Amino acid sequence: MAEPTLDALLQEDRTFAPPPAFAANALVHDRSLHDDADADWQAFWARQARELITWERPFTKVLEWDLPFAKWFEDGQLNVSVNCLDRHVEAGRGSRVAFHFEGEPGDTRTITYAELLDEVQRFAAALKQLGVRRGDRVAIYLPMIPEAAVAMLACTRVGAAHSVVFGGFSSDSLRDRIIDASAKVVITADAGWRRGAASLLKPNVDAAVAECPTISHVVVVNRCNTAPVMQAGRDVWYHDLLAQHPKGTTCAPEAMNAEDLLFVLYTSGTTGKPKGIMHTTGGYLTQVAFTHRYVFDLHPATDVFWCSADIGWVTGHSYVVYGPLANGATSVMYEGTPDTPAHDRWWAMIEKYRVSIFYTAPTAIRACMKWGIQEPAKHDLSSLRLLGSVGEPINPEAWMWYQEHIGGGRCPIVDTWWQTETGAIMITPLPGLTTTKPGSATFPLPGIGAEVVDESGTALSVGGGYLTLTHPWPAMLRGIWGDPERYQATYWSTFPDRYFAGDGAKLDEDGYLWLLGRVDDVMLVSGHNISTTEVESALVDHPSVAEAAVVGAKDATTGQAVIAFVTLKAGMGAAAPSDDHGQALRAHVAKKIGAIARPKTIIFTDDLPKTRSGKIMRRLLRDVAEGRSLGDTTTLADPNVVAEIKRRAEVSPQED
Ligand code: WT7
Repeated sequence: MAEPTLDALLQEDRTFAPPPAFAANALVHDRSLHDDADADWQAFWARQARELITWERPFTKVLEWDLPFAKWFEDGQLNVSVNCLDRHVEAGRGSRVAFHFEGEPGDTRTITYAELLDEVQRFAAALKQLGVRRGDRVAIYLPMIPEAAVAMLACTRVGAAHSVVFGGFSSDSLRDRIIDASAKVVITADAGWRRGAASLLKPNVDAAVAECPTISHVVVVNRCNTAPVMQAGRDVWYHDLLAQHPKGTTCAPEAMNAEDLLFVLYTSGTTGKPKGIMHTTGGYLTQVAFTHRYVFDLHPATDVFWCSADIGWVTGHSYVVYGPLANGATSVMYEGTPDTPAHDRWWAMIEKYRVSIFYTAPTAIRACMKWGIQEPAKHDLSSLRLLGSVGEPINPEAWMWYQEHIGGGRCPIVDTWWQTETGAIMITPLPGLTTTKPGSATFPLPGIGAEVVDESGTALSVGGGYLTLTHPWPAMLRGIWGDPERYQATYWSTFPDRYFAGDGAKLDEDGYLWLLGRVDDVMLVSGHNISTTEVESALVDHPSVAEAAVVGAKDATTGQAVIAFVTLKAGMGAAAPSDDHGQALRAHVAKKIGAIARPKTIIFTDDLPKTRSGKIMRRLLRDVAEGRSLGDTTTLADPNVVAEIKRRAEVSPQED
């Protein structure tokens, strides 16, 4: 399918006005939110914080900004679990469903707000018993099961920060993250269900924790009955802990300062070491509650919300757990993959739970497109009234398919741009207010300052450049765990007085924003941020590899695919690299980082294209990988290398 170029799209007049039903019902049906925010963005956020959040001690200070360090609502105190649970139960909404959970095998669990509060208090009491205290860090390595939300909320109740590590990550990745944050306890499961099989987690934890002296206990949820080895004195079953803290157990919430650490979440950087992105309590909760309510036009008593993201990513933190629960919403939570047992699993679940708001990623939409329109057509999707997209630029074809075949032509689509670092949605249409264009994330939210600048940092009113944020926002990262200099250098040094998002962006004649993807060396594979350097380090870690260069190449299904150029050491198969050797290297990367980072293609080469100063020319490698013509190669130390690489690229087998 031929992709129209961005310029062609910008010429086209293809816009979608908000449907009338929306304009009539929506929370946002005029520009009053914008007017408020434009008049005084700090006062705007202070008002949201007062309206949406329950404070144990009200704040009097709104923002202290000492670039690049922000403090929001600094003298206020609150507890996140109280905001997500207690206050809804106290208001008489304890019997409202918080989660309709469905496991991949089809098992279900309906959890009300009252039940969730009960389980969170019992588990919070158990964490205290295991020695977890206010200010500690707890690692969470779980599948998408209700216990993941319980674990996160229990941490917030006792004032410990969580560090969720995606269940698809390897034991090495888990170990590095535990060590970096000095976590005390790991919460995991024996395994999780994935594509019809139990995908083991506990053995990875055992391997990781063997090298983590700070870990005193491992809590294990028995999800798949795989009978893991339990180490006496260290490992403890989740169900045994709950049995020791029976129903009705209370655990008093810690009154946390607004700027106390809520969680650390690791994201790839351009050097091998992942960055522990820090989010704090009051500002984060304010913006996730605000965005979940207004961007998704949430009517908490009647909507059924489904964000398909895993809690291992920030999307799962903000729009599976904290945003929906802060707003007292009903959510669907699903453990497995959309193709199990068949390709209509998601659509069957939307019909079954009468989902009204569905939020997913372009890579998933493209996979569904591949499976065909007959899959959604098997189901009654008439409960849907709003669709969302996040993770990468959504190509207009996928946007149109989503709107037509999932949204039945009647649902607005909110294409939401944000990052692990921003904590919450930043650029998006507002349903009922914004006229959308397929593929454009449209405009910054009220209270958010975003501008596209050129190389010199000058703001543009039309044309392409770099996306920057012009002033602090409540859910912004407060830094990188243990590395304030890297925080300053990565985000605040490229353009003076601006946050540099790392994305290219373009403004059209109507002022609409079009995101163009990462400009640095981070790849976005199926919506997951993977650093080229991290994959290179993993490859070079293999005894046979001399040198490696990794680039992301455009891929129809996953957005970008990981392509590795590898030079082998002499005597290590360099003379005749084999397919088996390539497979061994792919497996090595999967073990070191996780399957998501496994190169799709490995191209063996005798040398890599370098500048005279020795810097690998990624642009050229990307050109080769994407099959484009080579362009200017004159700055290369040895131009023949490129020709050779290109020849090899044409014959290297691809993984399917
Ligand atoms: C990067 C952040 C935020 C949750 C998912 C990923 C890309 C995200 C969009 C969008 C175009 C998008 C950007 C961003 N991105 N949403 N709607 N349109 N690009 O979080 O792993 O921190 O990645 O995802 O490149 O910088 P993340």
